[in-house]
Amino acid sequence: MNNGPQPRLTRAIYPGSFDPLTNGHYDVIERAASCFGELIVAVVVNPQKRSPMFSLEDREAMLRECVAHVPNVRVEHFRGLLADYVKAQHADVIVKGLRVVSDFESEMSTALMNRALSDVDTFFLMSDQKYSFVSSSIVKEVFFLGGEVAPLVPEPVLRVMTARRSKLHARRNGG
Ligand code: PNS
Repeated sequence: MNNGPQPRLTRAIYPGSFDPLTNGHYDVIERAASCFGELIVAVVVNPQKRSPMFSLEDREAMLRECVAHVPNVRVEHFRGLLADYVKAQHADVIVKGLRVVSDFESEMSTALMNRALSDVDTFFLMSDQKYSFVSSSIVKEVFFLGGEVAPLVPEPVLRVMTARRSKLHARRNGG
């Protein structure tokens, strides 16, 4: 009996700035880890948008703590082109989360460019609707202006952010 093409174990790469990891990212990680054999969460060293608030070491450490219980996930970092990193890792797919239609507009050209450069396709997971408004930038802005973000980030991230805010306040108050 011909059972058709057999699924193969795939190595997926989920790239991002993770400055910092949000519950939206975390949800994508958990769901992607259950779809693919191996998931590499790849932290870009120098995000294009702006200099990161958290160092590479902090961003990786927060991620590692949050995914420690998921056996097929590992956290790495990369510099330069994602397509080059994907090829060097012999990855089969790139994973991205999509929150809203405007994400799709930029992600489509990025996915096509990454495929042209690496021959690797991007698989999109729709973000859980309860995180459709959550981004690292909005979380940082709200938190550092005194707002509540506990439901939006994993506990280890909240801890690091709280420590950072206390340090900033102490510095501002001459402490
Ligand atoms: O979390 P972010 O900031 O939305 O992640 C963006 C990221 C890291 C996925 C993207 O900026 C990226 O792939 N950077 C690597 C440089 C690169 O390959 N640029 C060309 C993309 S077609």
